[in-house]
Formats: sequence, C-alpha cells, structure tokens
Amino acid sequence: MSQPLALVTGPTAGIGLSFAHQLADRGHDLVLVARDEARLEALAAELRTSYGVTVEVLAADLTDRAALARVEQRVAANENPVGLLVNNAGFGLKRPFLDNDIEAEQAMLDVLVTAVLRLTHAALGQMVPRGTGAVVNVSSVAGYLPRGSYSAAKAYVTSLSEWADLTYRAQGVRVMALLPGFTRTEFHERMDVSQESAPSWMWLDADTLVTDALRDLEKGRTISVPSRRYKVLAGVAKYTPSSLQARFQGLGRK
Ligand SMILES: NC(=O)c1ccc[n+]([C@@H]2O[C@H](COP(=O)([O-])OP(=O)(O)OC[C@H]3O[C@@H](n4cnc5c(N)ncnc54)[C@H](OP(=O)(O)O)[C@@H]3O)[C@@H](O)[C@H]2O)c1
Repeated sequence: MSQPLALVTGPTAGIGLSFAHQLADRGHDLVLVARDEARLEALAAELRTSYGVTVEVLAADLTDRAALARVEQRVAANENPVGLLVNNAGFGLKRPFLDNDIEAEQAMLDVLVTAVLRLTHAALGQMVPRGTGAVVNVSSVAGYLPRGSYSAAKAYVTSLSEWADLTYRAQGVRVMALLPGFTRTEFHERMDVSQESAPSWMWLDADTLVTDALRDLEKGRTISVPSRRYKVLAGVAKYTPSSLQARFQGLGRK
C-alpha cells in the first residue's frame, strides 16, 4: 500500500533528518521545509537516490509570515495532499530571557508556536474532511519544566496536540506530541552549549528517538516520550514542585 505524502519542517539536521530518512525508507514521498536551500537540495537528491521516493523542496524561514504562508498553502492543498505533517523545526536561544533582545524571543515563539499552530490548522483543514491523516508535533519534556520561554512554548505545543488528538481522532485524524529529552543534534551546538552540560546518560540518539516515535504513532499514542529514562523523568517532573525543578536549570545550558 502506498504511504501518505509527508511534509517535514527542519529536515536538514538532527531529529528532522532522522524523520526524513526513516519516512523515505518506509516509502513516503516527502516535502522538505527549512531555510538553507542548498542543504535541502542536497538532502532531497540523497533521499531520491537512496530510497527512490519523490522529494519536493520548499525553502522557507518560518519566522517570516509570507514564507510561512507558502508552507501553509502547500499543507492545505487538496491536490497531492500532505497526509503526514511533522512540525519539527525549532531552536533555542543562547542567553537567559532578560539578556535576549525581545525580537529574538519573538522569532523563537514564531517557529516553536506560531508555525506549529498555523501548519496544524492548515493540515487538519484538509485531513478532517478526507477522514485521514496525522500530525506529529515535536515538543519537548522541557514543556513539563520551568525552563524559560522555550519550555512555555513547548507546553503550548503539547497541550494543543493533546486537545487536537482528543477532538479529531474519531474523525480519522491523529495528532501526536513527541517529547524528546536531550538529543544529540545541532540544537545545542547552535546554542554554543556542549554535551558535557548534562550527564552522558541523558543524551538520546536521534535515529532511535524517531524509530520509537513512529512506533508510538502506529500504536495510537497521543504523547510519545522515547526512552525509559525520560518516561520516568517526565512522570516524576509532573509531580515535582517547580521550585525543586528549578534547581536543575543549568542542565543542558552551559
Ligand atoms: N536536541 C534536543 O535536545 C531537543 C530536545 C527536545 C526537543 N527538541 C526539539 O526538536 C526539534 C528539532 O530540533 P533538533 O535538535 O533536531 O535541532 P537541529 O539539529 O538544530 O535542527 C533544526 C532544524 O530546524 C530548521 N530550522 C531552524 N530554524 C528554522 C526556521 N526559522 N525556519 C525553518 N526551519 C528552521 C533547521 O534548518 P535551517 O537552519 O536550514 O533552517 C534544521 O533543519 C525542535 O523543535 C527542538 O525544539 C530538541
């Protein structure tokens, strides 16, 4: 049986790159969205050659409303429709809240929240009438912790996804929030944070994480927290007072 067309944001590195490879390996044609067009084209060529799938490239900076609107139009299209949307693109800021220019905070919110909201809306708008489709929103276990505006954004993504899954599942459409813990990608490198900033046992492998996430999607989970260690940590975090959680603010930050 042919697999639905998948659109992945942020597929050129880290978790998104693993999604692109594993989905192509399962026979999904792809639409790839990120800023770096040369990197997108190189990845598209590699995926076409390695897996024999069709790959569309859509270069877009998700902080830019006009560029985001082009991606929304592609996601909303009924012709050759997107059957699986992976909202994965994201980044963190190098500095603490008050040291950041407010425009940097706004740009992070635009990618982590506004793009996820608008693309989820566009996807559900064409999936629900067709009675089929799935959205994976890459959130974070940080959404359960008091870790600044990044955590606040991820809490929104998890909450939106849980609600949407409850609401649209009966109509044949799934929405799953994927909550990674620290994962070896370019994310911390882009923030100038070394992997020594957290104990080695806390670092996950992106390929294993994505394999677990796709298995959770197939099982019908609403929330996917890959790895036993983070399932335990996420469970504990939900019932730990934020004043105690705040003592671990430095992890993954230096
Ligand atoms: N790594 C972790 O420890 C971790 C933990 C929990 C959650 N997460 C979440 O996982 C997701 C993926 O992160 P990652 O660790 O894989 O990061 P990564 O390796 O840095 O990859 C980020 C991807 O997002 C794209 N991107 C960044 N800003 C963008 C923008 N303005 N517009 C369009 N695309 C943009 C990048 O491509 P371009 O630069 O070419 O645009 C790249 O493809 C994020 O949502 C992140 O918050 C990560």
